[in-house]
Amino acid sequence: MTSKALIIPAAGSGSRLGTEIPKPYLRLAGQTILHHSISRFLSLDGLSQVVIATSPQYIDRSEEILDNLLPASIVGICVEGGTERQDSITNALNKVGDVGLVMVHDAVRPFVNEASITECCKVASKVGSAVLGIPAKDTIKRIDEEQYVQETPPRKLLWQTQTPQVFQKQIIMEAYEQAASNNIEATDDASLVERLGKKIKMVEGNRSNIKITYPLDLQLAKQLINNEQ
Ligand code: C5P
Repeated sequence: MTSKALIIPAAGSGSRLGTEIPKPYLRLAGQTILHHSISRFLSLDGLSQVVIATSPQYIDRSEEILDNLLPASIVGICVEGGTERQDSITNALNKVGDVGLVMVHDAVRPFVNEASITECCKVASKVGSAVLGIPAKDTIKRIDEEQYVQETPPRKLLWQTQTPQVFQKQIIMEAYEQAASNNIEATDDASLVERLGKKIKMVEGNRSNIKITYPLDLQLAKQLINNEQ
């Protein structure tokens, strides 16, 4: 069984949601969104470490969440996040110990299911890297800076990427080192691995694995959690 570390970036400001409290620390059915997101991983074989990257004001709160959630066999660590998501992941990667696989999962995706996580890990063990995603529902257009349409890629080749994104440890370490030395910025981890020219497999996830970003997402999240209970 491969040992695994879970990195949770939770240092976002929540500005798009318009709430005072950052999104991961809002409550759904009595628990924080962060608590729900981490709890989905706890039945996974080989999980040995959980690293949360968060803002300095939320380190204590995050440590409390880990203390409540993690059994003694899983080490919990909280680190300060950075200005961009990529900076938060970099700080967390520095704390990852001797594991085979590193999973990165957004703090604000509390509805990922266990079967999808397991499948993603299985594929990453074989291929090197695997990410969850779903086929694009809308036709997607590439635009220019002035919002003029430039291109319409065929929809059947477009997938929306979710998390977790799972990597063999040496692959994600190399991807982040290369990105730092070449000043590359990306909005997900897989794109940094793509730059290394390594294979990444897309694993079909679930439409309920939403990222709570806008007020409408929070309304949907409340509905989804009610349905579960
Ligand atoms: O901003 P975005 O939607 O990409 O955020 C995805 C996840 O990354 C969220 O869980 C957020 O808290 C986290 N994040 C972070 N550090 C940042 C920005 C976002 O850990 N500087």
